[in-house]
Amino acid sequence: MTYAGIRARTMTEERIRTYVRGLDEQLQGGIPQGHVVLLAGKPGTMKSSLAFHVLYHNAKHEGRGAVYVTLEQSAQSLLGNMRGLGMDTTGLEPRFSVLDLSLIRKKLRQLSNKSWIEVFRMYIENLDKTADISVLVIDSLPVLEVMGKFEDAREDLFHMFEWLRELGITSMLITEMEQDSDKFARHGEDFLSDGIVHLDLRREDRNVNLYLSVVKMRKTAHARGYFPLIYDAGGFELVVQ
Ligand SMILES: Nc1ncnc2c1ncn2[C@@H]1O[C@H](COP(=O)(O)OP(=O)(O)O)[C@@H](O)[C@H]1O
Ligand SMILES: [Mg+2]
Repeated sequence: MTYAGIRARTMTEERIRTYVRGLDEQLQGGIPQGHVVLLAGKPGTMKSSLAFHVLYHNAKHEGRGAVYVTLEQSAQSLLGNMRGLGMDTTGLEPRFSVLDLSLIRKKLRQLSNKSWIEVFRMYIENLDKTADISVLVIDSLPVLEVMGKFEDAREDLFHMFEWLRELGITSMLITEMEQDSDKFARHGEDFLSDGIVHLDLRREDRNVNLYLSVVKMRKTAHARGYFPLIYDAGGFELVVQ
């Protein structure tokens, strides 16, 4: 390909909007399509809510195929919480689907010769064939490692990332940060990923405020600061003055 050709391709590259006001502008329109992005933060930093928000709006406004894999809570409980935040997925199926542990267990019983991780991959690949998945969330990556019985976490994660890239799905992998740690990952996922978004709660006087930073986003010129992230009836907004 000629230089002009490469440039044209780069410039027209498709991005997945986050639908967070202020953030898409920071990301030159959104997350580059096909990126595998870590969404890291301590418990209660709205990781699940933010990830769900991205899928919900992509399915609702752009008709994109979206899958939320919830391994920490049941699909029913997640959908209930999100409805409480104003995100009701009724009518968005089959574009929007939620996969939880009980569903994987059911499939595992039907395919008794397959391992948990094989069933998980088959389920996603089949969904991709029927619903053309564009965006995927795994909540959370540490629980997937446990359920998938990752023996060599580095190697297994490497294959996991390669598999996601081959599928061409834009994914957000949620990682739980430990209370006294500022590490985004335990097994080099931060190096493997195309992007890292960090959510952080900070105590300021009597208030606890939420901040977001784009720590890393390949193919994107972005600011590196921490900006307040607010959630209200209008959705998420990153306050960038
Ligand atoms: N408008 C809001 N602003 C801030 N926090 C909220 C709002 N609505 C709900 N929350 C709370 O945010 C908390 C964390 O949400 P969640 O997405 O589950 O975080 P995480 O996945 O990071 O643990 C929940 O306890 C929820 O009640
Ligand atoms: Mg969560």
